[in-house]
Amino acid sequence: MKVAERHYRTIWPAADGRSVEIIDQRWLPHEFRVVPLTTMADVATAIRDMWVRGAPLIGVTAAYGVAIAMLEDSSDAGLDRAWDVLHETRPTAINLRWALDDMRRLLAPLPAEQRAEAAFARAARIADEDVELNRNIGRHGLDIIRKIAASKQPGEPVRILTHCNAGWLATVDYGTATSPIYLATEAGIPVHVYVDETRPRNQGAQLTAWEMVGQGVPHTLLVDNAGGHLMQHGMVDMVIVGTDRTTRNGDVCNKIGTYLKALAAHDNGVPFYVALPSPTIDWTVGDGVAEIPIEERSGDEVSLVWGRAADGTVVQVRISPDGTNAANPAFDVTPARLVTGLITERGIAEASETGLRGLFPAS
Ligand code: MRU
Repeated sequence: MKVAERHYRTIWPAADGRSVEIIDQRWLPHEFRVVPLTTMADVATAIRDMWVRGAPLIGVTAAYGVAIAMLEDSSDAGLDRAWDVLHETRPTAINLRWALDDMRRLLAPLPAEQRAEAAFARAARIADEDVELNRNIGRHGLDIIRKIAASKQPGEPVRILTHCNAGWLATVDYGTATSPIYLATEAGIPVHVYVDETRPRNQGAQLTAWEMVGQGVPHTLLVDNAGGHLMQHGMVDMVIVGTDRTTRNGDVCNKIGTYLKALAAHDNGVPFYVALPSPTIDWTVGDGVAEIPIEERSGDEVSLVWGRAADGTVVQVRISPDGTNAANPAFDVTPARLVTGLITERGIAEASETGLRGLFPAS
């Protein structure tokens, strides 16, 4: 998407052909910083410490991490080590394992001296494929927005609530949940986006809101607890969120707090959609609540908040007393029964094994 009139992806190969550059998302929305990742250790840090984040982007970054690792050690042991080091960075987003498996499948049969070049080429293809998947998610999601728009007075916006950041910053480009929103805007359909701030890391307030400003999409920032109230008062036409892992049964793991929004949507008859590319489906898992590992992050993310001070500097402040411990489960699971539909690159599936296998019979 465009940033100050220039088109950016979230990650791209550097001119030296041996490293990548990324948008360092820790500084948004206050500063737009691009940083290089030149070693596998850099890549692991960038994923673990959330310089990049969002399931699809984590997968693509890991694929480039394997490519960089092949420059460091392209032996079988080096390949296994890259898989292990990168895999332990973030446990919940399944696109990470998908990308690492894909890379290992391609590279393992090759002679060691051919691996680095093949790995960079494959990582670039995975990045391009992600953009294409998201465009197609956008097309299918746009059909839903169009239908809702048709039931409204001319000019009246379709009001969409979203949680966390499942925007272009969470992918290579376009985003998953935001792709239908961007295509609707391009098509001249008025939309208004309610952006959940998404504590503790505030991906909504910091990233989704920044995207909406950048793309000129009308939006309103909400505290996480406000969505239920808006839904009770008929102020939300649909919810669209992303996902870090969706099970073959259609259970949806996403940023903590998504489940509460799904409950509120269900109670108020508001359609609750989840946008996802097929690499986010974990066909090995059935029951998401029982089987998906939920990342526990540092309690400091709850107690300490980043923001821009009046003098323009970006600072961190403590919001709880010294001596108070904070728990920080980063994701939750929304059971399939609360999901109206899964918006995939191949169309909209019912959130069930039958629904998903109908669109992805070979998986
Ligand atoms: O912890 P994060 O910021 O990586 O979590 C991201 C989310 O939960 C997104 O909604 C999800 O990855 C879908 S992104 C297209």
